[in-house]
Amino acid sequence: MLNYPPEPFRIKVVEPIRRLEPAARRAALLSAGFNIFGLRAEDVYVDLLTDSGTGAMSHHQWAALMQGDESYAGARSFYRLKEAIDGIFGFPFFVPTHQGRAAEHILCGLLLRPGQSVPSNAHFDTTQANILARGGRPENLGIPEAAERANPHPFKGNMDLESLERFIEVTGPENIPLGMMTITNNAGGGQPVSLENLRGVSAIYRAHRIPFFIDACRFAENAYFIKLREPGQADRSVLEIARDVFALADGATMSAKKDAIVNIGGFLAMRDEDLYRRACNELILREGFPTYGGLAGRDLEAIAVGLWEGLDETYLAYRLGQTAYFADRLDEAGIPIIQPPGGHAVYIDAGAFLPHIPRDDYPGIALSAELYLEGGVRAPELGSFAFAYTDPATGEFRHPALELLRLALPRRVYTQAHLDYVVDTLVRIRDRRDSLRGYRVTYAPELLRHFTARFEPL
Ligand SMILES: Cc1ncc(COP(=O)(O)O)c(C=O)c1O
Repeated sequence: MLNYPPEPFRIKVVEPIRRLEPAARRAALLSAGFNIFGLRAEDVYVDLLTDSGTGAMSHHQWAALMQGDESYAGARSFYRLKEAIDGIFGFPFFVPTHQGRAAEHILCGLLLRPGQSVPSNAHFDTTQANILARGGRPENLGIPEAAERANPHPFKGNMDLESLERFIEVTGPENIPLGMMTITNNAGGGQPVSLENLRGVSAIYRAHRIPFFIDACRFAENAYFIKLREPGQADRSVLEIARDVFALADGATMSAKKDAIVNIGGFLAMRDEDLYRRACNELILREGFPTYGGLAGRDLEAIAVGLWEGLDETYLAYRLGQTAYFADRLDEAGIPIIQPPGGHAVYIDAGAFLPHIPRDDYPGIALSAELYLEGGVRAPELGSFAFAYTDPATGEFRHPALELLRLALPRRVYTQAHLDYVVDTLVRIRDRRDSLRGYRVTYAPELLRHFTARFEPL
């Protein structure tokens, strides 16, 4: 497996962080309604809330910002980004969006009607919510191994192809306006999807004439996993693998805040010209003119540079090595994590860590709150609070497979010493975990409730 290659960069700019005293942390969490999303970032010591938009840009990206062309229409920066998207993704059409969810919003708005279904290996929270918001039905069809915490399957992000066939047969392809795959699978532990599985999924969607869109946020990390783990791929470049992946699809939604290592941005790409024209109309209504979308010209420049940096194999070896280091330290300390670790995060099985807290009392929320109280570390629950939902067609209440806490690693931001600190904090919590209690919800909106909910300890 991976060793832990050191950082392929040195640090030129630093941003101070501070750790509040325990009493101040308690007061901060209380005023946030025990929801770590409600904290002020400056009250957090090590912030593992997300890897989205939190990366450190390179000096090449900062320099590119100065070359941003802010023309309303036809800006040079748009064509720079187009060149990168052509070279990597190969889709002939794209529109820039302010971030990934805006691309999902436009795609769902154009294709999805109430009562229709969208299968995937696992939809992430914003995708699930965008489908539900239009009366659609998100369907997660990951392989059964993905629900087994310690199963060492190398591609736990794969789709179960038999389930997909069965699902299409039962639902009818006319009720499936698009099919998706999330690479890597964020909701399921940041797990990769194999090229072989993507080929299988693509063949099934194509046989039923279902347009296939890839949620491509972490396409470079996924391609590097394919290179490391899939037979026959070791001698191919990550770029070649990525091109093979996108050749299988009809389009992609992309949050550039992940593998393009920028603080804002995204796009929706596709092959179908008619869909592109309709997307342009939606874009003009909601985001902006099709050559800038929801972004400034300088943002387009930073994405164009970042897309290539995200594919650099020395960087990817360090990136996945850092995650593996963190996972190995936690595993040695007996903290139950999803194995093997994913690309952008390590996921603790909060249900196994706190077996005395029932699912309905949210063990992931309890661990998230305690991690902040104990060490000023911020990490979100991705379990029954974030992902459980009521199926609009059947009224059935659906839990996710696991109760997870996600420790996401911002790109090029924290060092090994920061990660050792987080491990030590979790070990102290483990030593008194029987004293932790569950939480009750005091406020929650209907969709994407984890962002703004409030809780109180039971
Ligand atoms: C797999 C996946 N899809 C979509 C999104 C949404 O992207 P954004 O936050 O840029 O709207 C995210 C963000 O975390 C994600 O991880």
